[in-house]
Amino acid sequence: MSPAERAHPGADMERFVRAQMAFVGLAEADIETIRRTAPLVLEHEAAITGALYDHFLRFPETAKFFVGDDGAPDVQRLERRKHSLGRWLRETSEVAMTHGFVYYLLAIALSHSHREYGPGGKIPPEFMVGAMSLAQTAVAGVLRDELRDPREALEAAVAWNKLLLVHLNVFLLGYLLPPREARD
Ligand code: HEM
Repeated sequence: MSPAERAHPGADMERFVRAQMAFVGLAEADIETIRRTAPLVLEHEAAITGALYDHFLRFPETAKFFVGDDGAPDVQRLERRKHSLGRWLRETSEVAMTHGFVYYLLAIALSHSHREYGPGGKIPPEFMVGAMSLAQTAVAGVLRDELRDPREALEAAVAWNKLLLVHLNVFLLGYLLPPREARD
């Protein structure tokens, strides 16, 4: 079946997300673990979002989305981005896969896959994958430092990783949609 013949998962996001949660084995116990450890993670929200954007600024391929015409970091845009990323992290930690939330995820996906950001253009998908790896590393680091029992920390990191890759699946959906001009 060609990709064009297959109904796009964006047509029923709740179903897509539920199916992906089942596929990665994101069970009730994982959801409970994520909600229980959320306050520990959110306590470090500023450090996590700051580290991610500092990382983006270290690589020219990602830095170009956050610098002004003079080549210096665009502080205002970075602050806006950290704020949006913080909101995403807070909402993520609730694991409330409501209609509104799954379409919020799809909107985030489209703002990376379909919107042009100056000469940098759209955000290449490999950096969405890389960014999610950075998020996983940051969350795992917090859990390791905050939970005294290493086994508990590992179990919590495993649960968060499952959830973050379900999100990544949604973000990658944007790249499977036809470009704007080819729709309608
Ligand atoms: C884990 C991966 C990521 C998450 C969760 C994330 C989250 C977000 C969110 C929630 C928004 C706001 C969306 C909106 O207002 O419509 C946003 C916008 C944006 N993101 Fe990301 N992002 C990620 C990765 C990246 C990467 C890798 C880049 C570039 C290297 C990037 C660049 C941008 C830009 C340029 C905008 C819009 C900036 C603006 O309007 O000023 N993001 N992101």
